[in-house]
Amino acid sequence: MNAHATTHDELHAEVASQFDTTAMATETTLLNPRFYTTDFDEMDRIDVSPVRKEWDVLIAQMKSDPNKGHFKKNAEWDQIDWEGMDPALKVEFIDFLVSSCTAEFSGCVLYKEMKRRGTNPDICELFSYMSRDEARHAGFINDALREAGVAVNLGFLTRAKKYTYFRPKFIYYATYLSEKIGYARYITIFRHLEAHPEHRFHPIFKWFKEWCNDEFSHGEAFALLMRTDAKLTTSWANKLWIRFFLTAVYSTMWVRDHARVEFHKALGVDIDVYDQRVFQVTSEIARQVFPIELDINHPRWIPNLRRMNAAFVGMEDAHRRGGIGGKLAKFGHGLKAAFAFARLYTIPVIRQTPPESVRMEPAY
Ligand SMILES: [Fe+2]
Ligand SMILES: [Fe+2]
Repeated sequence: MNAHATTHDELHAEVASQFDTTAMATETTLLNPRFYTTDFDEMDRIDVSPVRKEWDVLIAQMKSDPNKGHFKKNAEWDQIDWEGMDPALKVEFIDFLVSSCTAEFSGCVLYKEMKRRGTNPDICELFSYMSRDEARHAGFINDALREAGVAVNLGFLTRAKKYTYFRPKFIYYATYLSEKIGYARYITIFRHLEAHPEHRFHPIFKWFKEWCNDEFSHGEAFALLMRTDAKLTTSWANKLWIRFFLTAVYSTMWVRDHARVEFHKALGVDIDVYDQRVFQVTSEIARQVFPIELDINHPRWIPNLRRMNAAFVGMEDAHRRGGIGGKLAKFGHGLKAAFAFARLYTIPVIRQTPPESVRMEPAY
Protein backbone atom coordinates (compact mmCIF):
# COMPACT_ATOMS: atom_id res chain seq x y z
CA MET A 1 0.00 0.00 0.00
CA ASN A 2 1.46 3.37 -0.88
CA ALA A 3 1.51 6.38 1.37
CA HIS A 4 -1.28 8.11 -0.49
CA ALA A 5 -3.63 5.17 -0.08
CA THR A 6 -2.91 5.09 3.63
CA THR A 7 -3.74 8.74 4.14
CA HIS A 8 -6.84 8.22 2.06
CA ASP A 9 -7.92 5.23 4.11
CA GLU A 10 -7.23 7.12 7.29
CA LEU A 11 -9.28 9.99 6.03
CA HIS A 12 -12.12 7.67 5.12
CA ALA A 13 -12.03 6.08 8.55
CA GLU A 14 -12.09 9.50 10.16
CA VAL A 15 -14.95 10.73 7.97
CA ALA A 16 -16.86 7.48 8.48
CA SER A 17 -16.66 7.81 12.25
CA GLN A 18 -17.88 11.38 12.05
CA PHE A 19 -20.73 10.53 9.66
CA ASP A 20 -22.54 7.32 10.51
CA THR A 21 -24.72 7.78 7.45
CA THR A 22 -26.60 4.51 7.93
CA ALA A 23 -27.62 5.64 11.42
CA MET A 24 -28.55 9.07 10.02
CA ALA A 25 -30.77 7.41 7.41
CA THR A 26 -32.33 4.97 9.88
CA GLU A 27 -33.31 7.60 12.42
CA THR A 28 -37.01 8.46 12.53
CA THR A 29 -37.75 12.11 13.21
CA LEU A 30 -40.50 14.41 12.04
CA LEU A 31 -38.22 15.81 9.36
CA ASN A 32 -36.30 12.78 8.06
CA PRO A 33 -37.60 10.97 4.99
CA ARG A 34 -39.72 8.00 6.05
CA PHE A 35 -40.33 4.51 4.73
CA TYR A 36 -43.95 3.68 4.00
CA THR A 37 -46.15 0.67 3.91
CA THR A 38 -49.78 0.53 2.88
CA ASP A 39 -52.77 -1.66 2.08
CA PHE A 40 -51.23 -3.27 -0.99
CA ASP A 41 -54.35 -5.36 -1.71
CA GLU A 42 -56.48 -2.24 -1.98
CA MET A 43 -53.95 -0.65 -4.31
CA ASP A 44 -53.84 -3.81 -6.36
CA ARG A 45 -57.58 -3.48 -7.02
CA ILE A 46 -57.23 -0.13 -8.82
CA ASP A 47 -58.84 -0.26 -12.24
CA VAL A 48 -57.07 2.09 -14.63
CA SER A 49 -59.67 1.80 -17.43
CA PRO A 50 -61.04 5.33 -16.86
CA VAL A 51 -57.59 6.71 -17.78
CA ARG A 52 -56.53 3.89 -20.12
CA LYS A 53 -55.47 6.05 -23.07
CA GLU A 54 -53.18 8.32 -21.07
CA TRP A 55 -52.01 5.40 -18.96
CA ASP A 56 -50.80 3.39 -21.95
CA VAL A 57 -48.84 6.35 -23.30
CA LEU A 58 -47.13 6.90 -19.95
CA ILE A 59 -46.33 3.22 -19.45
CA ALA A 60 -44.89 2.96 -22.98
CA GLN A 61 -42.66 5.91 -22.21
CA MET A 62 -41.46 4.35 -18.96
CA LYS A 63 -40.95 1.01 -20.68
CA SER A 64 -38.72 2.63 -23.31
CA ASP A 65 -36.45 3.55 -20.38
CA PRO A 66 -35.03 6.85 -21.67
CA ASN A 67 -32.59 7.13 -18.74
CA LYS A 68 -31.21 3.63 -18.99
CA GLY A 69 -27.61 4.76 -19.47
CA HIS A 70 -27.83 8.02 -17.56
CA PHE A 71 -26.92 7.06 -14.01
CA LYS A 72 -23.31 6.17 -14.63
CA LYS A 73 -20.26 8.22 -13.87
CA ASN A 74 -18.47 9.39 -17.00
CA ALA A 75 -15.91 12.02 -17.97
CA GLU A 76 -18.34 14.69 -16.73
CA TRP A 77 -17.88 13.38 -13.20
CA ASP A 78 -15.11 15.63 -11.87
CA GLN A 79 -12.98 14.42 -9.02
CA ILE A 80 -14.01 15.98 -5.73
CA ASP A 81 -11.56 17.07 -3.11
CA TRP A 82 -13.50 15.89 -0.06
CA GLU A 83 -10.50 16.57 2.16
CA GLY A 84 -10.30 20.17 1.05
CA MET A 85 -14.03 20.86 1.43
CA ASP A 86 -15.00 23.34 4.09
CA PRO A 87 -15.97 21.18 7.12
CA ALA A 88 -19.29 22.95 7.72
CA LEU A 89 -20.24 22.54 4.07
CA LYS A 90 -19.20 18.91 4.18
CA VAL A 91 -21.51 18.20 7.13
CA GLU A 92 -24.49 19.77 5.38
CA PHE A 93 -23.73 18.32 1.98
CA ILE A 94 -23.41 14.80 3.35
CA ASP A 95 -26.66 15.38 5.25
CA PHE A 96 -28.28 16.48 1.98
CA LEU A 97 -27.00 13.40 0.14
CA VAL A 98 -28.06 11.01 2.90
CA SER A 99 -31.52 12.51 3.13
CA SER A 100 -31.92 12.47 -0.69
CA CYS A 101 -30.65 8.89 -0.86
CA THR A 102 -33.09 7.84 1.88
CA ALA A 103 -35.98 9.53 0.10
CA GLU A 104 -35.12 7.88 -3.21
CA PHE A 105 -34.66 4.52 -1.56
CA SER A 106 -37.92 4.91 0.34
CA GLY A 107 -39.69 5.12 -3.04
CA CYS A 108 -37.76 2.11 -4.27
CA VAL A 109 -38.78 -0.03 -1.28
CA LEU A 110 -42.45 0.95 -1.41
CA TYR A 111 -42.76 0.52 -5.19
CA LYS A 112 -40.92 -2.78 -5.18
CA GLU A 113 -43.15 -4.14 -2.45
CA MET A 114 -46.28 -3.14 -4.40
CA LYS A 115 -44.92 -4.88 -7.49
CA ARG A 116 -44.03 -7.98 -5.46
CA ARG A 117 -47.42 -8.29 -3.78
CA GLY A 118 -49.58 -7.23 -6.69
CA THR A 119 -51.48 -9.36 -9.20
CA ASN A 120 -52.91 -6.51 -11.28
CA PRO A 121 -50.75 -6.37 -14.44
CA ASP A 122 -51.17 -2.59 -14.92
CA ILE A 123 -50.18 -1.82 -11.35
CA CYS A 124 -47.31 -4.33 -11.30
CA GLU A 125 -45.87 -2.97 -14.52
CA LEU A 126 -45.99 0.64 -13.35
CA PHE A 127 -44.44 -0.13 -9.98
CA SER A 128 -41.68 -2.22 -11.48
CA TYR A 129 -40.56 0.72 -13.68
CA MET A 130 -40.78 3.16 -10.81
CA SER A 131 -38.80 0.94 -8.43
CA ARG A 132 -36.20 0.43 -11.18
CA ASP A 133 -35.77 4.22 -11.45
CA GLU A 134 -35.63 4.86 -7.71
CA ALA A 135 -33.07 2.08 -7.21
CA ARG A 136 -30.86 3.81 -9.78
CA HIS A 137 -31.34 7.20 -8.14
CA ALA A 138 -30.55 5.94 -4.66
CA GLY A 139 -27.59 3.93 -5.96
CA PHE A 140 -26.16 6.91 -7.79
CA ILE A 141 -26.30 9.14 -4.71
CA ASN A 142 -24.82 6.34 -2.66
CA ASP A 143 -21.90 6.15 -5.14
CA ALA A 144 -21.22 9.80 -4.43
CA LEU A 145 -21.32 9.06 -0.69
CA ARG A 146 -19.02 6.07 -1.21
CA GLU A 147 -16.38 8.37 -2.71
CA ALA A 148 -16.44 10.26 0.56
CA GLY A 149 -16.13 6.94 2.39
CA VAL A 150 -19.62 7.14 3.91
CA ALA A 151 -22.03 5.07 1.80
CA VAL A 152 -25.36 4.19 3.41
CA ASN A 153 -25.90 0.48 4.04
CA LEU A 154 -29.16 0.20 2.11
CA GLY A 155 -29.72 -3.49 2.92
CA PHE A 156 -29.48 -2.72 6.62
CA LEU A 157 -31.75 0.28 6.19
CA THR A 158 -34.48 -1.85 4.58
CA ARG A 159 -34.52 -4.08 7.66
CA ALA A 160 -33.87 -1.57 10.42
CA LYS A 161 -35.87 1.48 9.39
CA LYS A 162 -39.30 1.97 10.90
CA TYR A 163 -42.14 1.80 8.37
CA THR A 164 -45.02 4.24 8.58
CA TYR A 165 -48.43 2.91 7.54
CA PHE A 166 -50.45 5.15 5.24
CA ARG A 167 -53.81 4.30 3.71
CA PRO A 168 -53.54 4.12 -0.11
CA LYS A 169 -55.13 7.52 -0.62
CA PHE A 170 -52.58 9.13 1.67
CA ILE A 171 -49.85 7.37 -0.28
CA TYR A 172 -51.25 8.97 -3.46
CA TYR A 173 -51.31 12.48 -2.02
CA ALA A 174 -47.94 12.22 -0.26
CA THR A 175 -46.12 10.37 -3.02
CA TYR A 176 -47.59 12.44 -5.84
CA LEU A 177 -46.40 15.56 -4.04
CA SER A 178 -42.99 14.21 -3.17
CA GLU A 179 -42.40 13.16 -6.81
CA LYS A 180 -43.48 16.54 -8.17
CA ILE A 181 -41.63 18.52 -5.52
CA GLY A 182 -38.59 16.33 -6.22
CA TYR A 183 -38.86 17.29 -9.88
CA ALA A 184 -39.23 20.97 -8.97
CA ARG A 185 -36.24 20.89 -6.61
CA TYR A 186 -33.92 19.10 -9.02
CA ILE A 187 -34.83 21.22 -12.04
CA THR A 188 -34.58 24.49 -10.08
CA ILE A 189 -31.08 23.62 -8.86
CA PHE A 190 -30.11 22.42 -12.33
CA ARG A 191 -31.29 25.63 -14.05
CA HIS A 192 -29.61 27.76 -11.40
CA LEU A 193 -26.26 25.98 -11.85
CA GLU A 194 -26.62 26.11 -15.62
CA ALA A 195 -26.58 29.90 -15.24
CA HIS A 196 -23.94 29.90 -12.45
CA PRO A 197 -21.62 26.94 -13.10
CA GLU A 198 -19.04 28.43 -10.70
CA HIS A 199 -21.32 27.31 -7.85
CA ARG A 200 -21.43 23.70 -8.97
CA PHE A 201 -19.23 22.31 -6.21
CA HIS A 202 -20.05 18.66 -6.93
CA PRO A 203 -20.62 16.86 -10.26
CA ILE A 204 -23.85 15.13 -9.13
CA PHE A 205 -25.82 18.29 -9.96
CA LYS A 206 -25.00 17.79 -13.66
CA TRP A 207 -27.18 14.67 -13.60
CA PHE A 208 -30.28 16.43 -12.25
CA LYS A 209 -32.00 17.26 -15.54
CA GLU A 210 -32.65 13.75 -16.88
CA TRP A 211 -33.06 12.61 -13.30
CA CYS A 212 -35.92 14.96 -12.60
CA ASN A 213 -37.73 13.76 -15.71
CA ASP A 214 -38.01 10.35 -14.03
CA GLU A 215 -39.57 12.02 -10.98
CA PHE A 216 -41.88 13.95 -13.25
CA SER A 217 -43.25 10.79 -14.85
CA HIS A 218 -43.62 9.07 -11.48
CA GLY A 219 -45.75 12.02 -10.42
CA GLU A 220 -47.76 11.65 -13.64
CA ALA A 221 -48.51 8.05 -12.73
CA PHE A 222 -49.91 9.07 -9.34
CA ALA A 223 -51.94 11.83 -10.97
CA LEU A 224 -53.52 9.20 -13.22
CA LEU A 225 -54.12 6.85 -10.29
CA MET A 226 -55.93 9.65 -8.47
CA ARG A 227 -58.04 10.28 -11.55
CA THR A 228 -59.36 6.71 -11.53
CA ASP A 229 -61.61 7.67 -8.63
CA ALA A 230 -63.13 11.17 -8.65
CA LYS A 231 -63.86 11.10 -4.90
CA LEU A 232 -60.14 11.17 -4.16
CA THR A 233 -59.86 14.77 -5.29
CA THR A 234 -63.40 16.09 -5.06
CA SER A 235 -64.96 15.05 -1.75
CA TRP A 236 -65.05 17.63 1.02
CA ALA A 237 -62.95 15.53 3.42
CA ASN A 238 -60.37 14.61 0.80
CA LYS A 239 -59.89 18.25 -0.15
CA LEU A 240 -59.03 18.91 3.48
CA TRP A 241 -56.55 16.04 3.34
CA ILE A 242 -54.95 17.42 0.17
CA ARG A 243 -54.66 20.77 1.87
CA PHE A 244 -53.07 19.07 4.87
CA PHE A 245 -50.50 17.23 2.76
CA LEU A 246 -49.63 20.34 0.76
CA THR A 247 -49.06 22.30 3.96
CA ALA A 248 -47.09 19.49 5.60
CA VAL A 249 -44.87 18.78 2.59
CA TYR A 250 -44.13 22.45 1.88
CA SER A 251 -43.43 23.41 5.47
CA THR A 252 -41.24 20.35 6.05
CA MET A 253 -39.17 21.30 3.04
CA TRP A 254 -38.82 24.85 4.34
CA VAL A 255 -37.58 23.69 7.74
CA ARG A 256 -35.22 21.08 6.27
CA ASP A 257 -33.69 23.51 3.78
CA HIS A 258 -33.22 26.24 6.37
CA ALA A 259 -31.11 23.83 8.41
CA ARG A 260 -28.59 23.75 5.52
CA VAL A 261 -27.25 27.28 5.40
CA GLU A 262 -23.70 26.48 4.21
CA PHE A 263 -24.94 24.11 1.53
CA HIS A 264 -27.19 26.73 -0.03
CA LYS A 265 -24.53 29.40 0.34
CA ALA A 266 -22.12 27.22 -1.63
CA LEU A 267 -24.76 26.78 -4.32
CA GLY A 268 -25.25 30.54 -4.39
CA VAL A 269 -28.93 30.05 -3.55
CA ASP A 270 -31.10 32.21 -1.31
CA ILE A 271 -33.12 29.59 0.59
CA ASP A 272 -36.30 31.69 0.85
CA VAL A 273 -36.30 32.48 -2.85
CA TYR A 274 -35.41 28.91 -3.83
CA ASP A 275 -38.13 27.37 -1.66
CA GLN A 276 -40.80 29.79 -2.88
CA ARG A 277 -39.79 28.99 -6.46
CA VAL A 278 -40.06 25.25 -5.79
CA PHE A 279 -43.52 25.75 -4.19
CA GLN A 280 -44.57 27.83 -7.18
CA VAL A 281 -43.48 25.20 -9.72
CA THR A 282 -45.03 22.36 -7.70
CA SER A 283 -48.31 24.24 -7.28
CA GLU A 284 -48.51 25.02 -11.00
CA ILE A 285 -47.98 21.36 -11.86
CA ALA A 286 -50.40 20.14 -9.20
CA ARG A 287 -53.21 22.06 -10.91
CA GLN A 288 -53.38 19.01 -13.16
CA VAL A 289 -55.09 17.05 -10.42
CA PHE A 290 -55.68 19.01 -7.20
CA PRO A 291 -58.77 21.24 -7.02
CA ILE A 292 -57.07 23.54 -4.51
CA GLU A 293 -53.77 25.35 -4.30
CA LEU A 294 -52.03 26.92 -1.31
CA ASP A 295 -51.73 30.69 -1.45
CA ILE A 296 -47.97 30.99 -1.05
CA ASN A 297 -48.15 34.76 -1.54
CA HIS A 298 -50.54 35.26 1.36
CA PRO A 299 -49.16 37.65 4.03
CA ARG A 300 -49.42 34.86 6.62
CA TRP A 301 -47.43 32.30 4.60
CA ILE A 302 -43.74 33.22 5.05
CA PRO A 303 -44.04 34.60 8.64
CA ASN A 304 -45.57 31.32 9.82
CA LEU A 305 -43.01 29.22 7.96
CA ARG A 306 -40.39 31.23 9.83
CA ARG A 307 -42.18 30.64 13.14
CA MET A 308 -42.36 26.97 12.37
CA ASN A 309 -38.64 26.87 11.59
CA ALA A 310 -37.77 28.73 14.79
CA ALA A 311 -39.91 26.25 16.75
CA PHE A 312 -38.04 23.31 15.19
CA VAL A 313 -34.67 24.89 15.96
CA GLY A 314 -35.92 25.40 19.54
CA MET A 315 -37.09 21.77 19.80
CA GLU A 316 -33.72 20.56 18.57
CA ASP A 317 -31.83 22.73 21.12
CA ALA A 318 -34.10 21.62 23.96
CA HIS A 319 -33.66 17.99 22.94
CA ARG A 320 -29.88 18.39 23.05
CA ARG A 321 -30.08 20.06 26.47
CA GLY A 322 -32.07 17.11 27.83
CA GLY A 323 -33.38 16.73 31.38
CA ILE A 324 -36.76 17.90 32.67
CA GLY A 325 -36.06 21.49 31.59
CA GLY A 326 -35.20 20.29 28.09
CA LYS A 327 -38.36 18.19 27.91
CA LEU A 328 -40.56 21.09 28.98
CA ALA A 329 -38.89 23.47 26.56
CA LYS A 330 -39.25 20.92 23.78
CA PHE A 331 -42.95 20.61 24.53
CA GLY A 332 -43.33 24.39 24.47
CA HIS A 333 -41.61 24.65 21.08
CA GLY A 334 -43.73 21.74 19.85
CA LEU A 335 -46.85 23.74 20.69
CA LYS A 336 -45.46 26.74 18.82
CA ALA A 337 -44.79 24.54 15.78
CA ALA A 338 -48.34 23.15 15.92
CA PHE A 339 -49.75 26.65 16.20
CA ALA A 340 -47.69 27.88 13.22
CA PHE A 341 -48.90 24.85 11.25
CA ALA A 342 -52.51 25.67 12.10
CA ARG A 343 -51.97 29.27 10.95
CA LEU A 344 -50.57 27.98 7.65
CA TYR A 345 -53.29 25.39 7.23
CA THR A 346 -56.07 27.93 7.66
CA ILE A 347 -54.80 30.36 5.01
CA PRO A 348 -57.65 30.52 2.47
CA VAL A 349 -56.82 28.27 -0.49
CA ILE A 350 -57.12 29.04 -4.20
CA ARG A 351 -59.80 26.88 -5.81
CA GLN A 352 -59.70 25.65 -9.36
CA THR A 353 -61.01 22.99 -11.70
CA PRO A 354 -58.36 20.57 -12.95
CA PRO A 355 -58.33 20.09 -16.74
CA GLU A 356 -60.13 17.27 -18.53
CA SER A 357 -56.85 15.64 -19.52
CA VAL A 358 -54.36 15.04 -16.72
CA ARG A 359 -51.10 14.49 -18.57
CA MET A 360 -48.36 17.11 -18.67
CA GLU A 361 -44.81 17.21 -19.94
CA PRO A 362 -41.89 18.64 -17.94
CA ALA A 363 -41.59 22.26 -19.03
CA TYR A 364 -39.38 24.02 -16.48
FE1 LIG B 1 -36.14 9.28 -7.66
FE1 LIG C 1 -39.54 9.21 -8.16
